[in-house]
Amino acid sequence: MIASHHQPIWQRARPYLQTRSNERHTSYCYVFAQQLLALHPDADAEIVLPALLLHDVGWSTVPEEKQLLAFGPNMRYPELRRQHETEGVRIAGEILAGLGWTTEQIVPITAIIDGHDTRKESLSLNDALVKDADKLWRYTPFGLETVGGWFGYTTAEQLNLLEKWLGYRFYTETAVHMARGLLANLILRIAESK
Ligand SMILES: [Fe+2]
Ligand SMILES: [Fe+2]
Repeated sequence: MIASHHQPIWQRARPYLQTRSNERHTSYCYVFAQQLLALHPDADAEIVLPALLLHDVGWSTVPEEKQLLAFGPNMRYPELRRQHETEGVRIAGEILAGLGWTTEQIVPITAIIDGHDTRKESLSLNDALVKDADKLWRYTPFGLETVGGWFGYTTAEQLNLLEKWLGYRFYTETAVHMARGLLANLILRIAESK
């Protein structure tokens, strides 16, 4: 699933992704980004995919009991949400530099990580694809179950939220179309499990 030339990054990222289902979340983001990239030949896969593998490593610096209070409906510590980005920039920079990546390669990747969650506007197509891939996982059974568990949402509340998100949460039309397909799949799975 993770391309062989990205394995060195992935193996170094994984120890930092052992909180909040981040390892599985990150692997989902990677797959969605590959699909988005297939439809956006102008984007740079060697920026987008490394940025996604490393985007949430900074959560490892946030105490686990405070992570669910750092974002979402119960947010009490917005500074910790920001910290997962700034510490992510530091850790990602160290990982990439340790693998011999040049500053020229590292800067555009860490610029995306810095703000992947809190920055409202996207800086570039690469940035937009990272932001979109980081949201699409919510339209999967794994996302539904995980987010429901975090915040105590009912399935109906979540489906409602996911439907609303289609109108404003994505940066590319491609991701909106992908999310619609995923949402149809979710609705059918839920209906068939009843
Ligand atoms: Fe994040
Ligand atoms: Fe994320």
